[in-house]
Amino acid sequence: MCLKMKKMADFKVICNRQLAHDTFLMTLSGKVDFHPIPGQFVNIKINGCYLRRPISICDFNDHSINLIYKVVGQGTKILSEANPGTKFNLLCGLGNGFQPHLASGRIVLVGGGVGAAPLYNLARELKARNANFCAVLGWRSADQVFYAEEFADLCKTYIATDDGKIGERGYVTDILKNSSYDYYFACGPYQMLKGVHSLGKAGQISLEERMGCGFGACMGCSCRTAQGSKRICVDGPVFFDDEVIFK
Ligand SMILES: Cc1cc2nc3c(=O)[nH]c(=O)nc-3n(C[C@H](O)[C@H](O)[C@H](O)COP(=O)(O)OP(=O)(O)OC[C@H]3O[C@@H](n4cnc5c(N)ncnc54)[C@H](O)[C@@H]3O)c2cc1C
Ligand code: FES
Repeated sequence: MCLKMKKMADFKVICNRQLAHDTFLMTLSGKVDFHPIPGQFVNIKINGCYLRRPISICDFNDHSINLIYKVVGQGTKILSEANPGTKFNLLCGLGNGFQPHLASGRIVLVGGGVGAAPLYNLARELKARNANFCAVLGWRSADQVFYAEEFADLCKTYIATDDGKIGERGYVTDILKNSSYDYYFACGPYQMLKGVHSLGKAGQISLEERMGCGFGACMGCSCRTAQGSKRICVDGPVFFDDEVIFK
């Protein structure tokens, strides 16, 4: 996979609203003179945090990008409190995204929790390609579900929640086991990715790791692959199913 051009730019918050429990949608305006490939991410400089924080691009147009993020610690808490007008410096165009042109047959997008966010941009791309695809998205509980309608506008969408209050009760893998598909794209918690991988289909997986630099310099985000150690920030975050070695 090749490294795409990265760029640093200031973006201004134009909207920052809560979508679900601890989950926010931030719209940032700025010059989007790069084409965010689904699965690519930005690294955000947050005042008070030494390291930038990586967040995937969920959606974009020529003058704004949407990020969906879950509040898990100091940095994302600060993001959630940002008012319209606040400026953030972004390193854009980071990582290697999904490669939808390599998928064929019946395609399924598999998202877990906030991992559904980058799959939305991918769903838009697959729709534009007239691909045969559906989405299977899982959350712990009904109050964490977001973008169900937005996905349903693009493709048949199946939801799983642990409590069964929205969609099926159980995990995304329960739905996949009863489905017929040829290729998958997945993003979500490690255990979910491991479960999806174990079903033995071809696909592409977006991995996550805590990041230092975000552009390949610090080796802080290494993971084991069939080709040896790779850096998630530049060699990934998206890897082919048969490359990833799960613990
Ligand atoms: C390529 C990439 C894309 C990402 N895209 C998104 C996204 O679209 N939306 C979103 O909500 N989050 C995304 N993340 C995760 C996000 O970067 C972290 O949740 C965020 O950096 C946490 O910052 P914090 O200061 O709030 O938390 P911290 O105070 O730094 O940490 C709080 C807790 O979160 C855990 N954590 C921190 N960073 C990560 C990480 N990278 N992976 C797993 N656990 C982590 C810590 O171990 C700790 O338990 C992405 C991560 C990567 C690597
Ligand atoms: S975060 Fe520095 S090499 Fe990946």
